[in-house]
Amino acid sequence: MVLLTGYRKIKTAVFISGTGSNLKSLINFSKTKKSPISINLIISNNSKAKGLNYAKLNKIKKKVLNFKNKNLTENNLLNILKKNHIEMICLAGFMKILSNNFIKKFKGKILNIHPSLLPKYKGLNTYKRALNNKEKYSGCTVHFVNSKLDSGEIILRKRVKISKNETEASLAKKILAQEHKLYPKAIIKIFNL
Ligand code: GRF
Repeated sequence: MVLLTGYRKIKTAVFISGTGSNLKSLINFSKTKKSPISINLIISNNSKAKGLNYAKLNKIKKKVLNFKNKNLTENNLLNILKKNHIEMICLAGFMKILSNNFIKKFKGKILNIHPSLLPKYKGLNTYKRALNNKEKYSGCTVHFVNSKLDSGEIILRKRVKISKNETEASLAKKILAQEHKLYPKAIIKIFNL
């Protein structure tokens, strides 16, 4: 995907469900000169998501949406995105699966970060599965979102070595630190900067 940034930054919404450490890294990145994006909206399905605190701290608009009725909520969400002139979406620990209909409306403009070296270990429990399989390496992937879970075109991956006494927690920590660098790098890559 090449979007010409021209003189302004691409208005981006970040979708979260939890801690929001990737959101934090994206906000910090967005404030740098080299960033082609600005973060203009934070969406969460979880009112208790810690990451929502970054909205106030950075004066970014936030919306919490309850996805119980997915169709209705997604239509509402599309309106909110439109009203806020959002052009790109970064999923960052967002635990809801978006419908094909929604994804089509933002085709090629939704990114996700996943804590494994895709196509290996799609879905949940990626650390546990990599450790159980005695992998020597795991890592993280930034990819475009398509209609199949964790299966869209890969933009960038970062490999992380699994040590002898690795635990799920230690591996998660190591990978997360790399995620914070990889997401901004992937964004720079898709804008051909
Ligand atoms: C990250 O590991 C990300 O890869 C996965 O969910 C986690 C979110 O962490 N999709 P955070 O909320 O950004 O701290």
